[in-house]
Amino acid sequence: MALDYDLVIVNGIVVTDDAISEVDIAIKGEQIASLGPRGSFSNDIAGRTIDAEGGYITPGGIDAHVHLEEPQLFGKGSSADTFETGTRSAICGGTTTIIAFAPQQRTEDSLLSTLEATHKKAEGKCYTDYSFHLLVSNPSDRALAEFSILREKGISSLKIYMTYAALQLNDGQILDILLAAREHGITTLIHAENNDLILWMTAQLEKRKMLAPRYHATSHPAMAEIEATYRAICLSEFIDVPILLVHISSPAAAAHIRSAQSRGLPVYAETCPQYLFLTKADLDKPGFEGAKCVCSPPPRENEQDQEGIWQGLEDGTFTVLSSDHCPFIYDDSETGKKTCVTAEYPEGQFKYIPNGCPGVETRLPLAMSAERLEIKRFVEVTTTNAAKLYGLYPRKGTLSAGQSDADLVIWYPSGKLGTFALTNGMLHHNVDYTPYEGKTLTQWPRYTILRGSVMWDRDGEGLVGKAGQGSFLHRDKSSLKGPLSSEPWDIRGF
Ligand code: URP
Ligand code: ZN
Ligand code: ZN
Repeated sequence: MALDYDLVIVNGIVVTDDAISEVDIAIKGEQIASLGPRGSFSNDIAGRTIDAEGGYITPGGIDAHVHLEEPQLFGKGSSADTFETGTRSAICGGTTTIIAFAPQQRTEDSLLSTLEATHKKAEGKCYTDYSFHLLVSNPSDRALAEFSILREKGISSLKIYMTYAALQLNDGQILDILLAAREHGITTLIHAENNDLILWMTAQLEKRKMLAPRYHATSHPAMAEIEATYRAICLSEFIDVPILLVHISSPAAAAHIRSAQSRGLPVYAETCPQYLFLTKADLDKPGFEGAKCVCSPPPRENEQDQEGIWQGLEDGTFTVLSSDHCPFIYDDSETGKKTCVTAEYPEGQFKYIPNGCPGVETRLPLAMSAERLEIKRFVEVTTTNAAKLYGLYPRKGTLSAGQSDADLVIWYPSGKLGTFALTNGMLHHNVDYTPYEGKTLTQWPRYTILRGSVMWDRDGEGLVGKAGQGSFLHRDKSSLKGPLSSEPWDIRGF
């Protein structure tokens, strides 16, 4: 007898961004086939039945900010995770789609060769579905002309930097990119920090022989982020084009974003767990340990700053919560965080510490365990909004019968796990630490399902999916608000 469904999940509480329902889920092939009241799908019509025992079921996480197999861009040091190990870690933490970066080298004037090279790195290796943001460091005429081809190739977003020697663009270059992005329906992600302010502070600290990891935070003050965030908003308003400000750490920068949003501008923003769960004090751990938490922007001063970021997640200032997973081995003097420790500088030189922290696997468990966000809002910022913003909705980011891929996370029933301490030993990345070591958790994905296949079964064999099950996702343009005017940008309008 032919079975009606391949997999049925019963007794779960299904949560999307707009509803919480006690329904059962039927999956056929790679898609959600049907959602029905309890008892709709009996065991004998399905290949496999999973009993969620009253736990939440959420759409698979989308982590739209992940660095994998990148060349040395953020100081000395090489990415510790490949597409294989990074997506392995992601799937075990409930993330079924990642958007990584395809970094253009400054010496390249084309973007297409970058895209092709990144495809080669990822193809056949991933445990999650995946896409790329083009990282544009040389907006040559040729690169700008290629934006239309990027769209044909399923890329609808790019990232640019206002800082970092290898990546920084000036305001004129940013305007060139924003104008071309407007023309082709591309969303521009902006790393907003004032580079000169950072360099000036770094020189001041060096003069005073203040070189330990904690001074990384001093060298990247909130004001550098506040000024650059406001400038990026001004430039995008001038061109009338959507932007997304990535990894916002400072409540004062978030206030500029909120103010732009309240004027109706298509300004979106992202924050990350490091700004919710870490502070500057984490960079001041004994010895060189603080280097584990060096990222840019850095974790801010205190709990009040963390609180400001939580509030931004609650009130809609932040559209997405991404990990900014940017992994470096800690105990490695060739390619890791310790590249800057020498006999002359035994406490290291903060300006050479590779910037970035791992977090693709811990993003969802940390946020879920915090129980700070209302559960629908948790879904919205960890998956639905990323799907909408980056052209994947409703295939991803929701659980809609006949429309959505069967990507989902089954969580433990409330209280079933008790409390436990996070350790790096639990994780599946290729990194020798987690900045969240010892944090108290109450939740972890019990199952992660990608397009109908169980990939992670925590109480069974753990990781059961295989590298290569993840596919490249051809993305459309954002379904969130675009330019305010539908007319082409015209210099005569000014
Ligand atoms: O420190 C960070 N955030 N490293 C990753 C690079 C970036 O700017 O996102
Ligand atoms: Zn960045
Ligand atoms: Zn990043």
